[in-house]
Amino acid sequence: MLFGIIGGSGLYDPEILEEVKTENVATPFGEVDVYRGRGGGREVVFLPRHGPGHTVPPHLVNYRANIWALWKLGVSRVIATAAVGSLRRRLRPGEAVIVDQFLDFTKSRPSTFFTGGAYGVVHVDYTEPYCAEVRRALLAAAREAGIVAHDGGCYVCTEGPRFETPAEIRMFARLGADVVGMTGVPEVVLAREAGLCYGTVAVVTNYAAGMAGRPLSHQEVLDLMAENTTRLRKLLVRTVELVPAERNCRCGGGPGLPGME
Ligand code: HPA
Repeated sequence: MLFGIIGGSGLYDPEILEEVKTENVATPFGEVDVYRGRGGGREVVFLPRHGPGHTVPPHLVNYRANIWALWKLGVSRVIATAAVGSLRRRLRPGEAVIVDQFLDFTKSRPSTFFTGGAYGVVHVDYTEPYCAEVRRALLAAAREAGIVAHDGGCYVCTEGPRFETPAEIRMFARLGADVVGMTGVPEVVLAREAGLCYGTVAVVTNYAAGMAGRPLSHQEVLDLMAENTTRLRKLLVRTVELVPAERNCRCGGGPGLPGME
């Protein structure tokens, strides 16, 4: 089983892997640079979501190329990291939420591989958007790594790159969102279309706009992630170890990608 790790803000290097090699993967949506190595006793592909050096902002990430590249390399299970703001007092900075639902408030992103034509019209089921087996492993690994981890939570994805207004945050909270970020969608959507298991560890870096009584800054997000990097790396390696080799979930039952050989 080949494992994929998508590193978000604050986690750009393949430090957790050994025997690392870089690889360039061609996809119908452009080229993707990944790192390949060993970690948690398994072969792992590490993909920095924002590109090497963190140069691509959330709304311009080439999500389709990233997921296609993982699929093409033969990855079957993916864990993603995400920095998030908290909409609930009980979800504190430094804690993790192993999210189980999402709300999509993105605006300008290509969010499907299925664009009609020869592939027909495809509607994929998202009753359980995040892989139950990957989520279980993330929860156990987080606790072992000494991270307070919450089982379940709703992730609202905004378009960014601006932070939200306090009015938007109040609206999202009323709609049921627990944490807010800018990159979880369409990544989770495309992963399911490609038949990949996908789970996210959302690291709370701040209380959302209007909740902390002061303006937000990207620096505070990065600072919080830097403080937690060691524990987060432990969590990722342990998750790779804990996920069963055999898939006993429904994630792979989708239609398959257009042009899939
Ligand atoms: N809003 C959106 N994205 C984020 C936040 C936030 O408050 N914190 C970290 N990523």
